[in-house]
Amino acid sequence: MTRTLSRRRFVQLTAAASALFAAGGKAQLWYAPSLTYPAVKVANVAQVRTGQPITFNYPDASAGVGKDRDIVAFSALCTHMGCPVQYEKGRFICRCHYSMFDPAKAGQTYQGLASSWLPQIPLRVDGKGDIYAVAVQGLIWGRVKNV
Ligand code: FES
Repeated sequence: MTRTLSRRRFVQLTAAASALFAAGGKAQLWYAPSLTYPAVKVANVAQVRTGQPITFNYPDASAGVGKDRDIVAFSALCTHMGCPVQYEKGRFICRCHYSMFDPAKAGQTYQGLASSWLPQIPLRVDGKGDIYAVAVQGLIWGRVKNV
Protein backbone atom coordinates (compact mmCIF):
# COMPACT_ATOMS: atom_id res chain seq x y z
CA MET A 1 0.00 0.00 0.00
CA THR A 2 1.33 3.43 -0.90
CA ARG A 3 0.18 6.63 0.76
CA THR A 4 0.88 10.25 0.02
CA LEU A 5 1.86 12.58 2.87
CA SER A 6 1.39 16.31 3.09
CA ARG A 7 4.26 18.46 4.40
CA ARG A 8 3.53 20.14 7.74
CA ARG A 9 5.15 18.93 10.87
CA PHE A 10 8.40 17.24 11.67
CA VAL A 11 9.64 15.41 14.69
CA GLN A 12 12.69 13.26 15.00
CA LEU A 13 12.58 10.12 17.02
CA THR A 14 16.13 8.80 16.89
CA ALA A 15 18.32 2.24 16.28
CA ALA A 16 19.36 1.86 18.07
CA ALA A 17 17.89 5.21 17.12
CA SER A 18 14.88 5.70 14.93
CA ALA A 19 13.35 8.98 13.87
CA LEU A 20 9.71 10.07 13.89
CA PHE A 21 8.66 13.05 11.83
CA ALA A 22 5.80 15.21 10.94
CA ALA A 23 7.25 16.08 7.57
CA GLY A 24 6.23 18.61 4.99
CA GLY A 25 5.61 18.18 1.26
CA LYS A 26 4.75 14.97 -0.47
CA ALA A 27 6.09 11.62 0.56
CA GLN A 28 5.14 8.00 0.21
CA LEU A 29 4.69 5.32 2.81
CA TRP A 30 4.80 1.61 2.25
CA TYR A 31 3.37 -0.87 4.66
CA ALA A 32 4.74 -4.42 4.64
CA PRO A 33 2.55 -6.41 7.04
CA SER A 34 4.09 -9.77 6.06
CA LEU A 35 6.81 -9.46 8.75
CA THR A 36 5.93 -9.88 12.40
CA TYR A 37 7.15 -6.95 14.47
CA PRO A 38 6.07 -5.97 17.96
CA ALA A 39 3.88 -2.87 18.27
CA VAL A 40 5.53 -0.65 20.84
CA LYS A 41 4.24 2.73 21.96
CA VAL A 42 6.81 5.37 21.11
CA ALA A 43 4.96 8.63 21.81
CA ASN A 44 1.64 10.39 22.03
CA VAL A 45 0.56 12.70 19.24
CA ALA A 46 0.36 15.51 21.77
CA GLN A 47 4.13 15.16 22.32
CA VAL A 48 5.06 15.62 18.66
CA ARG A 49 6.42 19.12 17.99
CA THR A 50 7.67 20.61 14.78
CA GLY A 51 11.42 20.15 14.43
CA GLN A 52 11.84 18.64 17.90
CA PRO A 53 13.31 15.13 18.04
CA ILE A 54 11.84 12.37 20.20
CA THR A 55 14.23 9.45 20.68
CA PHE A 56 13.18 5.81 20.92
CA ASN A 57 14.65 2.36 20.33
CA TYR A 58 13.01 0.03 17.84
CA PRO A 59 12.73 -2.85 17.26
CA ASP A 60 15.08 -3.70 20.11
CA ALA A 61 12.99 -2.17 22.88
CA SER A 62 9.86 -0.97 21.05
CA ALA A 63 4.66 4.74 8.66
CA GLY A 64 2.83 8.17 8.42
CA VAL A 65 0.11 8.53 10.97
CA GLY A 66 -1.93 11.32 12.53
CA LYS A 67 -4.79 13.39 11.18
CA ASP A 68 -2.95 14.28 7.99
CA ARG A 69 -0.87 11.11 7.94
CA ASP A 70 2.20 13.27 8.01
CA ILE A 71 3.92 11.86 11.08
CA VAL A 72 6.62 9.46 9.89
CA ALA A 73 9.60 7.66 11.42
CA PHE A 74 12.95 6.40 10.14
CA SER A 75 16.04 4.61 11.34
CA ALA A 76 18.55 7.28 12.26
CA LEU A 77 21.56 5.17 11.23
CA CYS A 78 23.04 6.07 7.86
CA THR A 79 22.76 3.27 5.34
CA HIS A 80 26.35 3.84 4.16
CA MET A 81 28.35 2.92 7.27
CA GLY A 82 25.97 3.41 10.17
CA CYS A 83 26.78 6.88 11.42
CA PRO A 84 23.90 8.73 13.09
CA VAL A 85 21.96 11.06 10.84
CA GLN A 86 20.65 14.42 11.97
CA TYR A 87 17.56 16.28 10.83
CA GLU A 88 18.36 19.70 9.47
CA LYS A 89 16.47 21.96 7.13
CA GLY A 90 13.98 19.34 6.00
CA ARG A 91 16.47 16.53 5.41
CA PHE A 92 18.56 13.95 7.21
CA ILE A 93 22.28 14.58 6.96
CA CYS A 94 25.04 12.11 7.78
CA ARG A 95 28.08 14.07 8.86
CA CYS A 96 30.48 11.14 8.32
CA HIS A 97 30.47 11.28 4.53
CA TYR A 98 27.64 13.73 3.87
CA SER A 99 24.90 11.47 2.58
CA MET A 100 21.51 13.13 2.61
CA PHE A 101 18.05 11.60 2.87
CA ASP A 102 14.61 13.09 2.27
CA PRO A 103 12.01 12.27 4.97
CA ALA A 104 9.28 13.68 2.71
CA LYS A 105 10.17 11.02 0.10
CA ALA A 106 10.18 7.95 2.32
CA GLY A 107 13.83 8.42 3.32
CA GLN A 108 15.19 8.49 -0.22
CA THR A 109 18.93 9.11 -0.45
CA TYR A 110 19.73 11.90 -2.83
CA GLN A 111 23.34 12.81 -2.16
CA GLY A 112 26.50 11.19 -0.84
CA LEU A 113 27.85 7.67 -0.55
CA ALA A 114 24.76 5.93 0.85
CA SER A 115 23.09 3.85 -1.84
CA SER A 116 20.03 2.77 0.17
CA TRP A 117 17.15 4.80 1.57
CA LEU A 118 16.80 5.19 5.31
CA PRO A 119 14.61 2.34 6.60
CA GLN A 120 11.18 3.68 7.41
CA ILE A 121 9.39 2.71 10.63
CA PRO A 122 5.65 2.31 9.93
CA LEU A 123 3.56 3.79 12.71
CA ARG A 124 0.10 3.27 14.15
CA VAL A 125 -1.90 5.69 16.30
CA ASP A 126 -4.53 4.44 18.71
CA GLY A 127 -7.68 6.26 19.78
CA LYS A 128 -5.80 8.04 22.58
CA GLY A 129 -3.22 9.46 20.22
CA ASP A 130 -0.50 7.06 21.35
CA ILE A 131 1.93 6.35 18.51
CA TYR A 132 3.29 2.82 18.02
CA ALA A 133 6.17 1.66 15.83
CA VAL A 134 4.95 -1.53 14.17
CA ALA A 135 7.58 -2.62 11.60
CA VAL A 136 10.73 -1.66 9.74
CA GLN A 137 10.74 -1.23 5.99
CA GLY A 138 14.31 -1.98 4.97
CA LEU A 139 17.29 -3.33 6.85
CA ILE A 140 18.71 -1.26 9.70
CA TRP A 141 22.41 -0.70 9.09
CA GLY A 142 24.74 -3.32 10.56
CA ARG A 143 22.11 -6.03 10.91
CA VAL A 144 21.45 -9.25 9.02
CA LYS A 145 17.81 -9.05 10.12
CA ASN A 146 15.93 -6.40 12.04
CA VAL A 147 14.36 -8.69 14.69
FE1 FES B 1 26.87 8.14 6.38
FE2 FES B 1 29.12 7.33 5.22
S1 FES B 1 28.32 6.71 7.15
S2 FES B 1 27.67 8.77 4.50
